[in-house]
Amino acid sequence: MKIRVFDTPDEAGVYVAAIAEQVVSGCPQSVLGLATGSTPIPFYRALVRLVQCGLNVHEVTTVNLDEYVGLPPDHPQSYRYFMEHHLFRHIPIDVDKIHIPYGTAADLDAECARYDQVVADYPADLQILGIGLNGHIGFNEPSAFLDTKTHVVELTKKTILHNSDAFGDPALVPTHAITMGLQGILQARQIVMMAFGEEKSQVVAQALQGEVRTDLPASILHLHHDVTWVLDRAAARMLPLHLGDTEA
Ligand code: GLP
Repeated sequence: MKIRVFDTPDEAGVYVAAIAEQVVSGCPQSVLGLATGSTPIPFYRALVRLVQCGLNVHEVTTVNLDEYVGLPPDHPQSYRYFMEHHLFRHIPIDVDKIHIPYGTAADLDAECARYDQVVADYPADLQILGIGLNGHIGFNEPSAFLDTKTHVVELTKKTILHNSDAFGDPALVPTHAITMGLQGILQARQIVMMAFGEEKSQVVAQALQGEVRTDLPASILHLHHDVTWVLDRAAARMLPLHLGDTEA
């Protein structure tokens, strides 16, 4: 487990984009596991700049973590729309190589099974993650049991409230989402977990404590052999010195 602490999310985003460049340069057919939320936006900005500077992503496949149930791909708050807005429309990526669950699938069980096949076919070379305030990864919410497979999840009140900014009203946030399960996340060759801001400092410190807990899904990353936590100083604030004082 590596921890890198930067002054700003923008600096952190450049660092993570450089990791992605290394992966894609090493293998042009790489699979990037991608995340949504405000956290990865500086990474996407930096990645777009790298592509504009010559990084070739023509053969890259992308596999996203999750999608809201009930939102069509062209809904401005859907994760598909988010990805178009922040990344896909800015880079020459093959639309057939983009994978995101369909939140409006008529048969959600069948959609979960279809997505598990996608996850099995395209294990990520690099998985980008953010962390929810309650420790969720993707939409794997805290629970007595954690699902290994793609599944439909009922979002917790805390998640709905946190994510309601984009919707303007908590009542407009979908109550359910489809999310990749933990097996899909953990099968990635390399994982980068990003977290920024004071409000994430407590959950980051808890997740890095060393215990694996189902009520803190991000703690499962202790079981993976290649995880880098990329933080800004505010998110790293509550880390014990021996963890937080790593070089930036
Ligand atoms: C959503 C996503 C997560 C993301 C989390 C944090 O719930 N499903 O993948 O990590 O939000 O969001 P933010 O980065 O906006 O804090």
